[in-house]
Amino acid sequence: MSAAGSVALRGEGLSRTFRSAAGDVHACVDIDLQARPGELVVVTGPSGAGKTTLLNILGTLDRPDAGRVWVGETEVTALDEEALSEVRRRDLGFVFQSFGLIPVLSAAENVELPLRIARTDPAEREARVAEALRLVGLADHAAQRPGELSGGQQQRVGIARAIVAEPRVLIADEPTAQLDSRTAATVMDLIVDLVHTRGIAAVVATHDPILRARADRVTELHDGRLLAAEGRLRRDRRR
Ligand SMILES: Nc1ncnc2c1ncn2[C@@H]1O[C@H](COP(=O)(O)OP(=O)(O)O)[C@@H](O)[C@H]1O
Ligand SMILES: [Mg+2]
Repeated sequence: MSAAGSVALRGEGLSRTFRSAAGDVHACVDIDLQARPGELVVVTGPSGAGKTTLLNILGTLDRPDAGRVWVGETEVTALDEEALSEVRRRDLGFVFQSFGLIPVLSAAENVELPLRIARTDPAEREARVAEALRLVGLADHAAQRPGELSGGQQQRVGIARAIVAEPRVLIADEPTAQLDSRTAATVMDLIVDLVHTRGIAAVVATHDPILRARADRVTELHDGRLLAAEGRLRRDRRR
């Protein structure tokens, strides 16, 4: 496990340019960001600001044109695809705006998927799935398929799946954008609670002012640039 004060996720000098017929789009320009264990970092900014691009790079789903990313002590920007998928499986959990659940699988089977991929043994899988569903308040819905669940419940399944393998980093791209505001609030409470109680470092892109207010750090993007970085832990910003 990470020592206190260590950094779970760090990006330095991240830049990403997309080339299109209409010209180059500088989706990320020289962005620095870090998250410590148990810290909630909110990435905000208008549509097109570069939030998804930044999260994809931090989550190893995309590579920057310049800059480096570390997950714990590992510089992931130096790894090949095989080593990267190992890091994703072991250290990263993802939550998506549209939940990303497999419709023909039950809630429990969806949550179990990362453990199957990691070849966790069946008895441990069962115990971990039950625990993850309990943590998100869905112990009584294990057998239901996504289509039989509300949007908020589906996103809770998505969160259970993201944390079932006990990642050190959680990446969530607008996880409440498809939920009504009351449901969104309960899902955000759940994310904040999991981050703080389980020591997960979370990077969450959101427009939501409530989640933003509860962040340990806020990174605000505009046209791919860091507009402002506010942190309660100002000492962190020296490095
Ligand atoms: N694969 C891509 N190809 C071309 N342009 C892209 C691609 N992905 C993102 N962009 C552009 O990069 C900018 C940032 O996009 P994005 O990261 O999705 O912003 P946000 O998530 O903040 O809405 C936008 O101008 C978008 O159109
Ligand atoms: Mg986006």
